[in-house]
Amino acid sequence: MKFFAAPMQGHTEGIFCRFHSDTYGPADFYSTPFIRVEKGEVRRRDLRVNDPQTVKGLNVIPQAIFRDITEWKLIAEAVAQLGFTTLDMNLGCPFPPQVKHGRGAALLRNPSLLKAVAEEMPSFPTLTFSIKMRLGVEQPDEWTAIIDTINSMPLTRVTVHPRVATQQYGGELHIGQFETLARELRHPIVYNGDIANPDDIDRIADRYPTLEGVMAGRGLLARPSLHAEWLEGRQWSREERIIKLLRLHRNLFEHYRSTLCGDAQILMKIKPFWEYLEPEIGHKPFKAIKKASSLPKYTTAVDSIS
Ligand SMILES: Cc1cc2nc3c(=O)[nH]c(=O)nc-3n(C[C@H](O)[C@H](O)[C@H](O)COP(=O)(O)O)c2cc1C
Repeated sequence: MKFFAAPMQGHTEGIFCRFHSDTYGPADFYSTPFIRVEKGEVRRRDLRVNDPQTVKGLNVIPQAIFRDITEWKLIAEAVAQLGFTTLDMNLGCPFPPQVKHGRGAALLRNPSLLKAVAEEMPSFPTLTFSIKMRLGVEQPDEWTAIIDTINSMPLTRVTVHPRVATQQYGGELHIGQFETLARELRHPIVYNGDIANPDDIDRIADRYPTLEGVMAGRGLLARPSLHAEWLEGRQWSREERIIKLLRLHRNLFEHYRSTLCGDAQILMKIKPFWEYLEPEIGHKPFKAIKKASSLPKYTTAVDSIS
């Protein structure tokens, strides 16, 4: 059972993967946030945060979000040029502006585009491909209309988040539908959804022993030691977790302080990393970090974590 760090826009860019791995040991795979095309070009920023030097030695999976074959090809070309050997395809993003324009979860309703993608795959012989999907846009059985197409594609794996797009990131996990889908999929499967602690990983591994792996997003940001604890077979004390957490965040902070200009820019980049950490660090430091309007205030807030 492998451990996959989920792609999280604004969080799990290359630099996070690097420092996470340095602090806790590497996840088996790190999936980085989706790369998109804007005004006919791959967003440069999306490529910059996928710098291959930063993630050297790690198994990093870049991801494409696209609405047509032109966008897909532009992203596949850019990713291959950077030297990556794999590309994940986003069939799950639930944000209405993306879905409305035919990207993310909307691809669950577009088998002809997936067929066109499969036909173009041999033009990128250095890349392998995977899919990250939801069960549907509105209904949890919508996957049934696309399963044959997905099975006919040459994919290394399919990651499934068993919700529909209209649920965003909350509400019921449709486990029955996940199990039916898992029985029908002919590719290795990774389960993704609401994994918060090492016991959750064990529970999924016991229940679905044939999975290739589990993927955690918010759970890993809320508890970055999640997979290290799971590998050790022991839950760390809060003190152990806090020591490493502060090291991870100090490294991220120092990185942004040396690469960005001005308090506002640095704070805008570093604050989101605390978003899921209120239960771990407590309400007071969490609020102080959120409110910090200068670097001294930010460091004082972080120093108040005990
Ligand atoms: C803020 C945020 C950003 C996300 N960015 C991406 C992304 O770029 N690509 C993607 O496939 N999923 C993205 N996701 C979805 C996560 O990868 C994951 O599927 C989802 O959070 C459910 O897993 P979890 O319960 O472990 O968090 C994002 C989710 C959140 C909350």
